[in-house]
Amino acid sequence: MELSKIMESSEYVKSKLNKLPEIGIILGSGLGELADFLEKKIIIKYSDVPNMPKATVKGHAGQFVCGQLNGKNVIMMQGRFHYYEGNPMELLALPVYIMKNLGVKKLIVTNAAGGINKSFVPGDLMIINDHINLTFNNPLIGKNDEKIGPRFPDMSVSYDKDLITLAKEISAGHGIGVKEGVYLMMTGPNYETPAEIRMARILGGDAVGMSTVPEVIAARHCNIKVLGISCITNMAAGINDKPLNHAEVIETSNTVKDKFETFVINIVGKM
Ligand code: HPA
Repeated sequence: MELSKIMESSEYVKSKLNKLPEIGIILGSGLGELADFLEKKIIIKYSDVPNMPKATVKGHAGQFVCGQLNGKNVIMMQGRFHYYEGNPMELLALPVYIMKNLGVKKLIVTNAAGGINKSFVPGDLMIINDHINLTFNNPLIGKNDEKIGPRFPDMSVSYDKDLITLAKEISAGHGIGVKEGVYLMMTGPNYETPAEIRMARILGGDAVGMSTVPEVIAARHCNIKVLGISCITNMAAGINDKPLNHAEVIETSNTVKDKFETFVINIVGKM
């Protein structure tokens, strides 16, 4: 991603804000209502930001929402971009680099995901402790600008240990049960086959989804600390005999909403 484009996009966002954010939050399918909790809210539509792709998925608004959450200045993405929408993966990194330019040091990424780990049940929250990129693509492919980050970023600790510890403390303190595991990304847009899910389990995945990994790679590239939270909205294909559909994903994330919101709001307060 060209630095000049990132600068153009972030200067636009900056011009709309009177306080710069320190924490970024990317909201997954059905989890967008967390933005309602922001005080002194400023909304910036993606379509107004230079160079941004368009978000098209149902259940995803398409805007940055900035303001105060539990005393912290945050920037939220209400709606994210997906690879399966046809966006070049490089472009999925742009919002993260915009956040970096605004001063964001820590990023919470959230998503809806299918449970691969058979000890999970729909409605569980899973702290992501690592990921597997099974898209065979990467947002960093292409020319690298060392001003953004290194050519070969380290991914040995992609999900920040201190943030994981904090999230576990918050979950215990608020009686919110959480699981922990590896998020495995496939491109979608079809849900996986049962054979693919058996493969994913052998490979070490605990949850499967169609997002998050490109943003996390970009965040690590520019040295933003990451906390990842998956909402297990369904068991992945073939685990029980139910067919999967997007309505079920949205329905489960709606039932988990309150727990999820309490969790994230309290984490942000202590970040
Ligand atoms: N597979 C992929 N992505 C998903 C799923 C799933 O089962 N559930 C929610 N997002």
